[in-house]
Amino acid sequence: MAKHIVIASGKGGVGKSSVSAGLALALQRDGYRVLLVDCDIGLRSLDLILGAGAALLFHWGDVIQKRCAPDQAVIAAAGGLSLLSAPSDFEPAYTPEAMRELAAAYDGEFDYILFDSPAGVGLGLELAAAAAELALIIATPDEVCVRSGQVTADLLSRWGVAESRLIINRFDAKSVAKKKLLNIDEVIDSTHLRLLGVVPSDQTVLFRMSRGQLIGAKSKAMQAFVRIAQRLNGKRVLLEID
Ligand SMILES: Nc1ncnc2c1ncn2[C@@H]1O[C@H](COP(=O)(O)OP(=O)(O)OP(=O)(O)O)[C@@H](O)[C@H]1O
Ligand SMILES: [Mg+2]
Repeated sequence: MAKHIVIASGKGGVGKSSVSAGLALALQRDGYRVLLVDCDIGLRSLDLILGAGAALLFHWGDVIQKRCAPDQAVIAAAGGLSLLSAPSDFEPAYTPEAMRELAAAYDGEFDYILFDSPAGVGLGLELAAAAAELALIIATPDEVCVRSGQVTADLLSRWGVAESRLIINRFDAKSVAKKKLLNIDEVIDSTHLRLLGVVPSDQTVLFRMSRGQLIGAKSKAMQAFVRIAQRLNGKRVLLEID
């Protein structure tokens, strides 16, 4: 059975979709079969990030509503990844139970199913988290985002997600040194979450990934995604920050 992971933050624009894509690529390169599920109804972005925009035919809502078979909705995306795109509107058929059934339909084919959640703590997040046993809470190192991450983790726990781990994104040691951003200990203390990894602020994410281009294996962000993927698979990997 696949591992089901929801990537969440509460707050918008902190890097949920970028981290989802980067982590998925790192897992795929390690030989795992990964399905990414874009749960941002109405504001999907993973098709753009993964250069699959033109290939969209069906989305996961079509699978739930039985307008296509599960395999027909899977889009081949960059790096050999598989993507389920998000519907453009909410429908009454999109319920947490329907999302669990959706995940079950792909369990045999994939090792990891990653659910990229929308901003906010409403139904969109609930749907994204419905099948997940693990949440990755993405926080940038600032007070507003950190509080939002903690609130989101509490909510996900009440909704039955067994565990939440923290990923600090857009970390910039120079800004921390100038006390413009929180340091890693402060983020951990404020969220009460166990740290899974730190992704540096890296312009290749902004300039390449957001335009559907793969980021190079040597980029700092990709190396961070690789370390996070290894930790997810139980390896002990040193925290590297620069
Ligand atoms: N580590 C990073 N370094 C530099 N830029 C980043 C990094 N992570 C994300 N970004 C940039 O930040 C912006 C927002 O990222 P992204 O779309 O992944 O956030 P999100 O949390 O999914 O947003 P939303 O809440 O709207 O879904 C994008 O322009 C992206 O390229
Ligand atoms: Mg997003």
